[in-house]
Amino acid sequence: MTPLPRHLLPDTAAVGPAGQLMIGGCDTLELARKYGTPLFVYDETHLRARCREAVAVFGDGAIYAAKAFLCTAMARLANEEGMRLDVATGGEMHVALRAGVPASDLVFHGNNKSVVELEAAVEAGVGRIVVDSFEEIDRLEAIGKPASVLMRITPGVEAHTHEYVATGHDDTKFGFTVSTGAARDAAERLMRSSVLELEGVHAHIGSQVFRAESHAEALAVVADFAAPLGVAEVCIGGGLGVAYVAGEAAPTITEWGQSLRRAAARAGLDAKLSAEPGRAIVAAAAITLYTAGTIKQIPGVRTYVAVDGGMSDNPRPVLYGSGYETFLPRAVGAARTREIRLVGKHCESGDMLVREGLVPEDLALDDIISTPVTGAYGHSMGSNYNKIRRPAVVFVADGQARLVVRRETFDDLMLTDVG
Ligand code: LLP
Repeated sequence: MTPLPRHLLPDTAAVGPAGQLMIGGCDTLELARKYGTPLFVYDETHLRARCREAVAVFGDGAIYAAKAFLCTAMARLANEEGMRLDVATGGEMHVALRAGVPASDLVFHGNNKSVVELEAAVEAGVGRIVVDSFEEIDRLEAIGKPASVLMRITPGVEAHTHEYVATGHDDTKFGFTVSTGAARDAAERLMRSSVLELEGVHAHIGSQVFRAESHAEALAVVADFAAPLGVAEVCIGGGLGVAYVAGEAAPTITEWGQSLRRAAARAGLDAKLSAEPGRAIVAAAAITLYTAGTIKQIPGVRTYVAVDGGMSDNPRPVLYGSGYETFLPRAVGAARTREIRLVGKHCESGDMLVREGLVPEDLALDDIISTPVTGAYGHSMGSNYNKIRRPAVVFVADGQARLVVRRETFDDLMLTDVG
């Protein structure tokens, strides 16, 4: 029944003269009017602060996992703040290069990189390719050009997160398994390779992990594996969890980094420690603004509030059962006493944004309604289902808003339709 907890809002969030939510000195209701809804609003100061935090603990081992949210403005921002970029496909690599990020600052990931993608990566001169399989070693050796690689291992550590985003246990499609000896065989092969330079060992045990100890345990296994190889770098991947709803709390990037540093020291690691946070950099930096449309009250059952977006701009509730909060930006500090279910405008019942939401009692048609902590894996996993146009994205700072991704048009929906 309480107001929205402050820690779920971006760093520069403040309450304006009329009780409305301000971010980066901009009135969120005016942003909705100017740019339309649904709209992703990112606090640029918050984004920069999280990048700096990562660089402060990991130095040039700080790598932004671009899959969490990627557009040229974001790629540039992370790189300006000193982060390298993890790109997981040819498409992500393309956007990062277009943004002007030097190829040498890119770390190329993926469990099934195609020959075309690998050729493009080698040709561009990406800093590191993280090899994931024996097939990939074959492909790179066939390309025959020198490349610096990390090898991804599966350390056999449970990450305590949703099954779909856990990757550290043995039963996974990612990486070389330590327990079966595949990792050792791959390392031997890479050490012998005349074209590939084994620079390091990588592991990523999963995403939205709240226990920093899970990463520390994985790091111990990775460090142990890496030690006899004498490699220069050990990368622990990403996965630091963030708080999405009231009552949740997560370690900060600094706390996470320090716990990893301690684990590295315990393991006697003398290689460079690197990490690839994605969600922890961008998730809480953004909110999504929607317009409330149909309000369907079913006496004795519940109230459905339908907005102008849905699973196409945030598929996480549908995919992982993820929880979010709701609030009204016009009254950000108001008590939330009315129970609602926030749903989208897609043609299926599962199209849900917030299963059990709370809003102020006076919620009305055409109100701007918001979900916080939507900066990670919302826009990046967005779709055009039902031919819905993907939302615009604005960055706000110091009283200025800049459009960094424009809203799609109906004609954009036809761009690839050559029928
Ligand atoms: N490094 C690697 C190799 C990864 O696979 C990932 C995420 C990361 C870093 C960044 O993880 P983060 O710090 O963002 O947790 N769509 C899901 C998350 C999928 C994560 C995939 N890999 C979600 O919305 O929860």
